[in-house]
Amino acid sequence: MASASSIAASIASKTKTKKKHFVAQKVKLFRASDPLLSVLMWGVNHSINELSHVQIPIMLMPDDFKAYSKIKVIVHHKNKSFMNSPLCFSDFCNSLTRSAPLNSEAQGRSGARFHTSYDKRYVIKTISSEDVAEMHNILKKYHQFIVECHGNTLLPQFLGMYRLTVDGDETYMIVTRNVFSHRLSVYKKYDLKVRGKERRTHEKKNTAKELPTYKDNDFINDGQKIYINEENKKMFLEKLRKDVEFLAQLKLMDYSLLVGIHDVERAEQEEVESEENEAEEEGESDGGGIGTPPDSPSNTLDSTKPLSPGEFDPTIDVYAIKSNESAPRKEVYFMAIIDILQHYDAKKKAAHAAKTVKHGAGAEISTVNPEQYSKRFYDFITTILS
Ligand SMILES: *[C@@H]1O[C@H](CO)[C@@H](O)[C@H](O)[C@H]1NC(C)=O
Ligand SMILES: *[C@@H]1O[C@H](CO)[C@@H](O)[C@H](O)[C@H]1NC(C)=O
Ligand SMILES: *[C@@H]1O[C@H](CO)[C@@H](O)[C@H](O)[C@H]1NC(C)=O
Repeated sequence: MASASSIAASIASKTKTKKKHFVAQKVKLFRASDPLLSVLMWGVNHSINELSHVQIPIMLMPDDFKAYSKIKVIVHHKNKSFMNSPLCFSDFCNSLTRSAPLNSEAQGRSGARFHTSYDKRYVIKTISSEDVAEMHNILKKYHQFIVECHGNTLLPQFLGMYRLTVDGDETYMIVTRNVFSHRLSVYKKYDLKVRGKERRTHEKKNTAKELPTYKDNDFINDGQKIYINEENKKMFLEKLRKDVEFLAQLKLMDYSLLVGIHDVERAEQEEVESEENEAEEEGESDGGGIGTPPDSPSNTLDSTKPLSPGEFDPTIDVYAIKSNESAPRKEVYFMAIIDILQHYDAKKKAAHAAKTVKHGAGAEISTVNPEQYSKRFYDFITTILS
């Protein structure tokens, strides 16, 4: 009966396990294909509920950034623990717990496991312990920056950081707002840094991948353009300038601009095709019977008011910008800064170690500093917008 993915969640520290065999069907359980995700869902539910009894302070004090809650979950009689560091209180609990997070392709650095919440509003990815340390370093200033710019930023919106221990293996996960839309599909995506880095995708041959991440040189060679009007461009570049100045102050570098492109007509076409396929499949399973009415109840699941093609709610799709009138196709662009946790000193140390291995101690290191990186990055992004 107990499949590998079923999970009996009980608070080990308080209640202990009462029975050897848990009653799987009586309680609503968080199930996901992956035990790690089940533990995450359970932990998020628990910690958010715990936090809801805490009065939210108007000003966060230094100690608030050190606050965390720790709980243990028994899964198949194995010890798994969950540690939550509530960076910022938010109502993302439902998005993370109503249904299991989905596997997704990485939007940033390779190697990380990457998921989106079932409603695609949040992304969950694994991060390294170095990233966690950097996160703790920058948290106070990051929070101050976000408050001062009233959330008008292209920086990642960090919503939660978790440490999950499953069978003795520690995994760190971070939850951020999705750069892309929860409803407008992206057909092409780029990860952009600086010109002349000879960065291009190595994924072209990998046809199995639905949405490869293209890079700087691909952008230039494709003749890709971002058609946005002067006003949007000015606002975007103003945010970008403040953001990279802030990152340079924190001595952070090697971040990217993630760009996603939604093609309005193409998406409409795809929707029609998928509806036709669905209708066909339903027809077949019904033995060619009467078709279902087009207004099936699945529409009512989405509580937000209907939007016409290419339209979006800017309070949800905060990074979205519409294409301008001279664009050859009606498009929507999603652009934000990602992978900000690389610190100059850590990079230098790594570069030094690599150089020493290759050229012996005392070899010169030619890593650009965060200030130079921010300027090159800003200049490059400016050129792709014109
Ligand atoms: C989520 O948390 C609430 C409050 O702690 C609890 O009553 C509920 O059972 C939890 N849900 C699941 C599915 O564990
Ligand atoms: C969980 O770990 C604790 C201490 O590490 C141990 O005492 C306990 O027996 C373990 N429980 C299970 C079910 O393995
Ligand atoms: C639209 O964007 C393109 C590319 O950035 C630009 O060359 C053009 O002037 C813009 N047109 C309008 C009307 O803003």
